[in-house]
Amino acid sequence: MSQITVEPLTFPETSGVNFGAIIHNADVEHLTDADFDVIRDALFNHQVIVFKNQSGTSPKAQFELTRRFDPAGTSYGHGKTIDAKRSILHPDLKTIPHQPQVQVIGNGFVPEYEGLKNAQLKHPHHKTFHVTTIPDEEDLDFTRFYRWHIDAALYGLAPPIVTTLLAVKVPDGRRQICRYDDGTGDELDVPLGTTAFVSGYSMYDILSEADKEFARTTKVEYAPHPYIWISKAKSRPTGLGMVSQGFEVPLNDLPPIEEDKIQVLPLCWRNPVTGKLALQVHPSPARKLHLADGTIIDDLEKVREIIYRLQRPGIAPKMVYAHDWEEGDFVLFHNRGLLHSVVGAFAEDEVRLFRQCNIAASHFPEGPESIAV
Ligand SMILES: [Fe+2]
Repeated sequence: MSQITVEPLTFPETSGVNFGAIIHNADVEHLTDADFDVIRDALFNHQVIVFKNQSGTSPKAQFELTRRFDPAGTSYGHGKTIDAKRSILHPDLKTIPHQPQVQVIGNGFVPEYEGLKNAQLKHPHHKTFHVTTIPDEEDLDFTRFYRWHIDAALYGLAPPIVTTLLAVKVPDGRRQICRYDDGTGDELDVPLGTTAFVSGYSMYDILSEADKEFARTTKVEYAPHPYIWISKAKSRPTGLGMVSQGFEVPLNDLPPIEEDKIQVLPLCWRNPVTGKLALQVHPSPARKLHLADGTIIDDLEKVREIIYRLQRPGIAPKMVYAHDWEEGDFVLFHNRGLLHSVVGAFAEDEVRLFRQCNIAASHFPEGPESIAV
């Protein structure tokens, strides 16, 4: 019998957030099979689970717990990107020498951590990715969602099931206003450097019946070498997908393309425990839509408009859970049931240190086919 208990997060009645839980009494370094069963069940029921006061968790224990969700999966979830310098994922990651599946991310200068020396970390800033930016003079008070995404290579490797994040060092206390800047006036008060989560299940549930059917029967094709393909393109100000200005790297300028690694995935992914459908699309590297009748939409602007129309309601301010990080927070999130985004703009001397781990899965997510509709 496990002593672990699961306490769902609670939100005001006006909130549309219906996920998240705190896990109590878990010894992450020594988890029994019964403990893990409780944790696994909690992850698939609550999508984001938080273990408090876990500063002492070793990189090894972090990796072992991450791998336990899929023991057959062993490699890093984003894959070894060929031509890493051109990839948009390149600058944000550093690896722990003795546990290379665990990355260090954050902001500021770290002289030494777990064998990593003189690490200069840089929190991603929307000005390097968005088509418009918040003026410099407002940059400490206002911010944006950097990039809504799923942690996934989307080329060759299957999307990781879970991502684990340990907050080792968190600068205190400022808050910022996260602006959508899409003409809606939407904005959200957030803790500095929050990680924002939205539920793929809610994103699906709030669609019209017609859109639900479209989402259930359509597949999305991702670009080959997706993060190089979009490396010169710019994001919408909401961080939810790209604007179409023709800046995608032409396919013949990408590294050699292996056709069998190109991914065509369902728009909706089935939860292995609840059976619910999540609208799970990584909007930035999406390139084509394959409709039920065999039509392929390859007009990139149109593809992006359709995906944006389906996803935007799901990131409305009341749908967002903005985790207020405290040092020692160990968060597991269900990468196949939600979208997440880095948020915030740090000053250069604000030191933030996190450890992240995810592992490419041994299998692809299940689509909606087996669900009676
Ligand atoms: Fe991520």
